[in-house]
Amino acid sequence: MPDKPDRNAIEVVNVSKIFGSGEGQVAALDTVSVSIRENEFFTLLGPSGCGKTTLLRLIAGFDFPTAGEILLYGQDIAPLPPFKRPVNTVFQSYALFPHMTVADNIGFGLEMLGKPKAEIKARVAEMLKLVKMEALAGRRTSQISGGQQQRVALARALAPQPKVLLLDEPLSALDYKLRKEMQIELKRLQHETGITFIFVTHDQEEALTMSDRIAVMSSGKILQVGSPWDIYDKPAERFVADFIGETNFLTAAISEMANGKARATLKSGATIEATVAQSFQPKPNATVVVRPEHAKLTKAKGELSGTVENIVYFGTDTHIHVHLDSGELFTVRQQNTRSAGCGFEKGDAVGILIGSDAAQVLKD
Ligand SMILES: Nc1ncnc2c1ncn2[C@@H]1O[C@H](COP(=O)(O)OP(=O)(O)OP(=O)(O)O)[C@@H](O)[C@H]1O
Ligand SMILES: [Mg+2]
Repeated sequence: MPDKPDRNAIEVVNVSKIFGSGEGQVAALDTVSVSIRENEFFTLLGPSGCGKTTLLRLIAGFDFPTAGEILLYGQDIAPLPPFKRPVNTVFQSYALFPHMTVADNIGFGLEMLGKPKAEIKARVAEMLKLVKMEALAGRRTSQISGGQQQRVALARALAPQPKVLLLDEPLSALDYKLRKEMQIELKRLQHETGITFIFVTHDQEEALTMSDRIAVMSSGKILQVGSPWDIYDKPAERFVADFIGETNFLTAAISEMANGKARATLKSGATIEATVAQSFQPKPNATVVVRPEHAKLTKAKGELSGTVENIVYFGTDTHIHVHLDSGELFTVRQQNTRSAGCGFEKGDAVGILIGSDAAQVLKD
């Protein structure tokens, strides 16, 4: 696909959605703003109830914002009913018609749009090929597997060539292996069709492996938007650091900020360099985070020192839990090799080395 200048497909501007009234009032979305670029695989990631489905429903037009606006290629879409929006949804439940064949399900949206029969037939054939379901075209959707239903739901949503495809936890009903296969399949479909995907999941690994960019949501707010790398390596606040992967939290005094770096004095008295946001105000009791795989265990001295409390073997790697002399807990993740053991034992006095780019200061 030729490189295009970045263009926003969807802009969500100060959108709030309040359900109910009085005591029972719920702010499902609280002044949310986010822009989603054309051709992007964009993921909304957050725990149950944080407002992911609500945001999709507003974009699709199944519901209206209490405040704010949603623009599609710069145009306010509020006046457009769902079927007039160039947006389609793959629902978590798939919502296929069980007594109709695979092919008829895929062609359904085109029928509704009153497209000529020949065009529908050609487009359905193209979609069947795209999702590799040609062999089952005549089968009823009540007689195919969960993974196959998933493909039909995708094909049906893609058939009318929407500009934006909304996917609400489309893989959550599938078992682990099928889920992994469908993740690759979805990426391929997005790449081949060039359609903007807005994908919802509460699975952080799925979000990290599939997305161009991720918005991390909590309690009706978007906390951080960035590439998977940004979100994992440069979490801005505690919720993001904690929700995405495993991490170590250390209390530190922050001083001497310059060029996005700060001096962090740990409880152990050691100082390390940590990445920091420009807007951060130095303070004596901030939190720095260090991912377990970015620290190294040593029998010599390190920036931190402590005693090995527990060793957990995971096959590919080993997690070593250390009780620091400061009273804090710290986990180091070490890649396993063919040679036996991780080189440490419970009760060992150890040092922990923290690399120059490993620590990040949180804003809260
Ligand atoms: N129609 C409604 N009436 C009242 N409250 C609602 C309604 N729809 C959603 N909510 C509330 O709004 C909040 C956000 O719901 P939403 O369905 O967007 O969450 P979600 O992030 O999709 O969660 P999940 O991962 O469980 O699907 C929740 O507190 C929910 O109970
Ligand atoms: Mg939901």
